[in-house]
Amino acid sequence: MGYEAKAREILKSMTLSEKIGQMNLGLINKENLNDMLEAFKQGKYGAYLTYEDFSDQRDIHNKIMEASRKSRTGIPVLYGKDVIHGHFTVFPIGLGIAASFNPELIEKSFALIAEEASSEGIFWTFAPMLDIARDPRWGRIAEGFGEDTYLTSRMAEAAVWGLQGRNPADLGKQEKILACPKHFIGYGAVEGGRDANTVEISQHTLMNVYFPPFLAAMKAGAGSIMSGYHDLNGEPVSASYNILTHMIKELGGLDGFIVSDSGTTSQLVKYRYSTDEKQATEIAANTGIDMDMCSFCFEKYLEKLVEEGKVPIERIDDAVLRILKVKLRLNLWNREVEPLKDKNKFTLSSEAKNISVEAARQASALLMNKESSLPLSKDIKKIYVAGPYAKARREYFGCWCLDGVDHVVEPVIDILKRKLDNTEIRHLDYFLSERILGKDDYIDTVVYFAGEDPDRSGERNNIANLRLPEGQEEQIISLSNRGKKVILVVVAGRPLSLVRVIPHVSAILYVFHPGTGGPEAIAQILTGEAEPGGRLPVTVPVSEGQIPIYYNPIQVRSDRPEHLKYNDITDKPLYCFGYGLTYTDFKVSDIKVDRNEIKKNESVRVTVNIENVGDRSGEAVVQCYINDCVSSLLRPCKELKGFKRITLGKGESKIVEFTLGEEELGFFDHKGDFIVEPGSFRVFVGLDCENTIDTYFTVLDE
Ligand code: BGC
Repeated sequence: MGYEAKAREILKSMTLSEKIGQMNLGLINKENLNDMLEAFKQGKYGAYLTYEDFSDQRDIHNKIMEASRKSRTGIPVLYGKDVIHGHFTVFPIGLGIAASFNPELIEKSFALIAEEASSEGIFWTFAPMLDIARDPRWGRIAEGFGEDTYLTSRMAEAAVWGLQGRNPADLGKQEKILACPKHFIGYGAVEGGRDANTVEISQHTLMNVYFPPFLAAMKAGAGSIMSGYHDLNGEPVSASYNILTHMIKELGGLDGFIVSDSGTTSQLVKYRYSTDEKQATEIAANTGIDMDMCSFCFEKYLEKLVEEGKVPIERIDDAVLRILKVKLRLNLWNREVEPLKDKNKFTLSSEAKNISVEAARQASALLMNKESSLPLSKDIKKIYVAGPYAKARREYFGCWCLDGVDHVVEPVIDILKRKLDNTEIRHLDYFLSERILGKDDYIDTVVYFAGEDPDRSGERNNIANLRLPEGQEEQIISLSNRGKKVILVVVAGRPLSLVRVIPHVSAILYVFHPGTGGPEAIAQILTGEAEPGGRLPVTVPVSEGQIPIYYNPIQVRSDRPEHLKYNDITDKPLYCFGYGLTYTDFKVSDIKVDRNEIKKNESVRVTVNIENVGDRSGEAVVQCYINDCVSSLLRPCKELKGFKRITLGKGESKIVEFTLGEEELGFFDHKGDFIVEPGSFRVFVGLDCENTIDTYFTVLDE
């Protein structure tokens, strides 16, 4: 029997209150545990989450599972947790893993995340976060994959495959867990970069910029979607029929359920969208929420609302069927729930170590390298290591990291000491800097590890000034004023404007909170053992006044460029999307299309030659962009539509190929139809969004 038939059979045997039980996501902590165990026995919750440390009650999740299996229906409860970018082993934050431009790497990382999480009974994670973000003031920019729709879409599907497996049946394997792409939709465009604020997005932009990553995740098989906290175009998103039922279930074809973000149903009262919680429940259930996260409204009011005929039983049945089908796909009836691990005994497997170091290496973008200051020369006899990230461990994990194990992280200063065993490495404690610098003035190179604390980004953590945290810029400038050569490493949760320190440093390695492998990867890059592998998934602004700034606005009116300028600052970014230096140089040449004209349903092959013209081997991230030259709705001036990471030895060259077909050339029109329009397309290939070569082809009108 298939999942649908099995789910229908279970549904038939359920009472109304048991059905509503499945639609509640509860919260457990130490205080409410006994009551909740009783509630699970009575089938009052379909799922639960926790933020509590239960290391003193290791078999807690097994007990809960057993309680739910003993309920009258025997439907197992689903344990979900925010395992966002790592469980015990931590991978780079969303922005960092996106900097890899490497879907295979994220698939591998998320497979490991799933394995570690499921070993503790976590069969559902509230990830990946797919909110396109073009405002670095917003703290949650850290969690997503940056500003670009195509890059986010590729990372989205890879993350879902990593967590759930590539085939629908894989989800039932013990080491796979359910994904929950979030926060549908447009959350990244909150006004003023203020978390959970109001959002206004045109239909055109919503469908073409914000929707495709979620569509890609659903096509990849994501079995749940989380709606957001914010309001969009005049409606709370977690209470909008158009957004929940139409966009996710009808257009997206979600084969699974929608869970609200925490408390969004009761929040409708504060929003002044409903008079009381009962009406809020009616709206949320009728507009399409299948599972209510922690507002406790469904459990209080839904049964009554069905009895009063205000929420049709068909809506309840639809929600419960969706949840049951996912639970069946997850094989929840037969899954083992192991006791919680003793984290103190956690050791990093060599596989986890390799992937986490590789992921961290590819989360690190080299933005400046004056006079080849990096890699550090083996002839340097003495180096100061300074700054808040020199000795840090846990801080490398970034925001939203609940269970990461930090005793397996070795501070970067210690790794550097091992790797550069002919160099004297001294820690420069800034409290004592006047004295130390006075004494040791013969040390002329400083590696300064700057950065943001994980709590400076993530949920609720917005900033208005995109500068390094207080004091760090002053330290960097004072070192440079004393004649030191400063190599700057920035470990952060967002793109920060570095304009003030740029004149004072010789090299900048920008690392989005990189996780467990961070210090090792950074040390490898600094010493030249490895290449800096990251490319910016987001534009770095010169100033907050430029926000929103992203690489591909619609408006590039060449007839009036003066209108687009600021009188007081540049309109150019500090560093553009896709940018990142390597230790070698590449030349891109010879762009060709295999045919000058194609029909709408055909595709064109674009090739370029890439040559390593530097003096060591290295990796190029070759990027392919298009522009729809004349269109019925204005299209962005450039859109990423392909990328490839290739390694080339010194002097080596390769032909790199991209295929552009309907999916790449089309867009959603005002009716919501995905169309390809005839006419000229310009195609650009290069090593970032600005330095490209280009050619044209035509889509024929037939
Ligand atoms: C966040 C979600 C998260 C949820 C559950 C909310 O505050 O917005 O991203 O998954 O809490 O912890």
